[in-house]
Amino acid sequence: MKFFLDTADLNEIEEAASWGALAGVTTNPSLYAKIGGKLEDFHAHMKRICEIVGPDCPVSAESVAMTRDEIVRDGLELAEIAPNIVVKIPTMVEGLAATRALADQGVRVNMTLCFSVPQALLAARAGARYISPFIGRFDDISEDGLDQVESIVGAIGNYDFTANTVRGEQIEIIAASVRSANHVTQCALMGADIATVPFGVLKKMVQHPLTDRGLESFMKDWKKVLNA
Ligand code: G3P
Repeated sequence: MKFFLDTADLNEIEEAASWGALAGVTTNPSLYAKIGGKLEDFHAHMKRICEIVGPDCPVSAESVAMTRDEIVRDGLELAEIAPNIVVKIPTMVEGLAATRALADQGVRVNMTLCFSVPQALLAARAGARYISPFIGRFDDISEDGLDQVESIVGAIGNYDFTANTVRGEQIEIIAASVRSANHVTQCALMGADIATVPFGVLKKMVQHPLTDRGLESFMKDWKKVLNA
């Protein structure tokens, strides 16, 4: 499983990138608004994220356009920012059509706001490189988001979509709207390719009380060695 950071916060990205385990970044309009982002700075901000994580880490930048022509135009502009930009497009009719057009022009797309197997299968056929099923938002309405991710991983894995994707790359499922380290565990067990996590969840993933306790006793005992 690869780990993406789900944030537009440059400090969080710099910190997570320095840990050596970051494979990409996903952003969305809400995350950009959360850091006080301004429209005129959006492309420069995405470029900075691409520079921080380096060319091998995909960075999802979301289109906010609503018609297929506008999404395609927006997507082509976003793709110009850096080679590792992935255009994030909502799963809807206009989004599917735009995804097909962008994939045909060599632009990689992350289909987002995906909540069902039929949506995921359509995204895959339309040429999406990444598909992002959301977990937490199902949990928010008292349904099981993990069940949906498991079904989507299974259904997409049943077929070969490489004829549909840019450069014949394998589709990867990004478990999104991740709210806990346990979500990550469950997604890894079901074979999701990527988990995109907020920085708070990434920090919790490193922690375990037995690690803290073990470290404390090792340090205490090492003092005895130093004083022997
Ligand atoms: O990647 C999508 C994610 O940002 C949505 O998360 O917590 O707003 O449901 P959340």
